[in-house]
Amino acid sequence: MDMILVFSFLLFSLISQIQSKPTLTANPRTLSKSGDSVLIQWSGINSPSKLDWLGLYSPPDSAHDNFVGYKFLSSSPTWESGSGSFSLPLTSLRSNYTFRIFRWTESEVDPGFHDQDHNPLPGTKHLLAESEAVGFESGRGPEQIHLSLTGRDGEMRVMFVAEDPEERYGEKEGRWRSDVAVARAGRYEREDMCHAPANHSVGWRDPGWIFDAVVSGLKDGVKYYYQVGSESKGWSLTRSFVSPDKRSNKLVAFLFGDMGAPTPYLTFSRTQDESISTVKWILRDIEALGDKPTFVSHIGDISYARGYLWLWDEFFHLIEPVASKVPYHVCIGNHEYDWPTQPWKPDWAKSVYGTDGGGECGVPYSVRFNMPGSSSEPTGTRAPATRNLYYSFDMGPVHFVYMSTETNFLPGSNQYNFLKHDLESVDRMKTPFVVFQGHRPMYTTGVDIKDAPLRERMIEHLEPLLVKNNVNLALWGHVHRYERFCPLKNFTCGSMGPKEEDWEALPVHVVIGMGGQDWQPKWEPRPDHPDDPVFPQPERSLYRTGEFGYTRLVATRKKLTLSFVGNHDGEVHDTVEILTSGRVLNGNNDDDNGKVGAIHKIDATHYSLPHYVWGGSILVLGGFIGYVIGFVSHARRQVAQGRGWTLVKTQET
Ligand SMILES: [Fe+2]
Repeated sequence: MDMILVFSFLLFSLISQIQSKPTLTANPRTLSKSGDSVLIQWSGINSPSKLDWLGLYSPPDSAHDNFVGYKFLSSSPTWESGSGSFSLPLTSLRSNYTFRIFRWTESEVDPGFHDQDHNPLPGTKHLLAESEAVGFESGRGPEQIHLSLTGRDGEMRVMFVAEDPEERYGEKEGRWRSDVAVARAGRYEREDMCHAPANHSVGWRDPGWIFDAVVSGLKDGVKYYYQVGSESKGWSLTRSFVSPDKRSNKLVAFLFGDMGAPTPYLTFSRTQDESISTVKWILRDIEALGDKPTFVSHIGDISYARGYLWLWDEFFHLIEPVASKVPYHVCIGNHEYDWPTQPWKPDWAKSVYGTDGGGECGVPYSVRFNMPGSSSEPTGTRAPATRNLYYSFDMGPVHFVYMSTETNFLPGSNQYNFLKHDLESVDRMKTPFVVFQGHRPMYTTGVDIKDAPLRERMIEHLEPLLVKNNVNLALWGHVHRYERFCPLKNFTCGSMGPKEEDWEALPVHVVIGMGGQDWQPKWEPRPDHPDDPVFPQPERSLYRTGEFGYTRLVATRKKLTLSFVGNHDGEVHDTVEILTSGRVLNGNNDDDNGKVGAIHKIDATHYSLPHYVWGGSILVLGGFIGYVIGFVSHARRQVAQGRGWTLVKTQET
């Protein structure tokens, strides 16, 4: 009898195990392009737990701990039945994905295995199920297309990422039609990263090949259509850009810092869902602007990959709708660069420059972007030099200058010499306005003691250059808020009288680090100041807000207008206007020299250009297959909710 019971029990257990073996499927098995969604379905999870989780892996042979991201099954509404599903948009990492389900228990929480915010990362001891691989269709052409100005007339730089270079991607220009741009391929290797996580298997992912081409001979202010790719590997969808117009006396641009990118999963690094709104509203504005030259300026802390290198792919996927249409300009932030081995680390900066670069040491930033000029600093390792540090260009009536707050800017340095010479050489007849940009702010009112030694030196050495050369606007990131100051010199607002000649032409400083990163400890309540929980707002700070968003710059030859657009409603919440004299006006001026807080009316100007059609079977950069269309004017006007010059203490939260 006993034997029968034991046998029955074993049989029952065996049947139960067979019946309860979890299944995990992912469909479709082949996606067309980045952003397409895969449906992940599971069933048969016994005794479902809130800690059961799904890991995303790419490449498929990644170790269990080397996931690119994870989601708890409990975020599916039916998880308690042991079955559920997720629909996840995937970005191509140039290798397949697989998905694995694990059981994790509270007793297995490992304090040493946590994300960058010190949240515990899930354990991988108990694998319950694994899916088949999901890949991307070949022959769909490169991805991550992004444009930038070269600083030279009639040119546009086009960069993109592809899985591998073909032999004929070389520089045999004789084989190409002379009017088609040839792309050079570049990449970085795991050995180029200076530390973990970037050079560790947990953070390293192959970047593919990054292509860089310059198209030249462009006419001013003309819309061109283009494709990138090759006959054998396929072509991108047709894109378009409007070439810069050096004759234009008007400019609209979009500027912010610290944006990052979203991911459809949790991962080792904090990601930035708010960036979706920033890109959405900027796209709205670009479409409303019509076919006029414009550009985007992202002043540091760009992808927030911080050594988890696939997050760069997520970032470029996010910005592609904008960056394949208008030039996307950047300067370096701490999260692209900082590491204790960096070449320039003076004693006074010990609290300033830490480990924020996650072992990237500026390498992905330097290879994935190619900004105007030739500034570079050696890395001190085998890695390619750090580039895109300081440069300038003219766009419409504005001269834009970019600096690196992460490398030497003190008198005697290459950067200081560049900035001094550049600012002293501006032809104000050509560009009446000068806008200066860098990552770490010269002025902020947050609780940021760490950066104080840097700010002191910026005010000591750089501010005199800005003041002497009549820089109109200085834009900074790093602090994840919007904050506008009065025209400043050494913490003091400039004198201002009723007449224009009474005004002291000082730079207006604005912190615009509100692009998407939500980390705000510099503004956290101060427990020892219960009656004044947020850092006090001194008189020089005219407006500050905790809302995310971006700034819109509108410049004519007479007036420069900077408006803050909030992501929460897409509306203008602060405006400052600066005349060429340096005088700062109220925000609600309504004359015709640039509509305050809105994209001013664009003249319906028509251009013509010969109709280019060319093909070619071996093109790297598919030439312009399009032609010029007449510009369509989309005039938009809206009344700004501008803030006057009167000192206002505004704290929006
Ligand atoms: Fe930063």
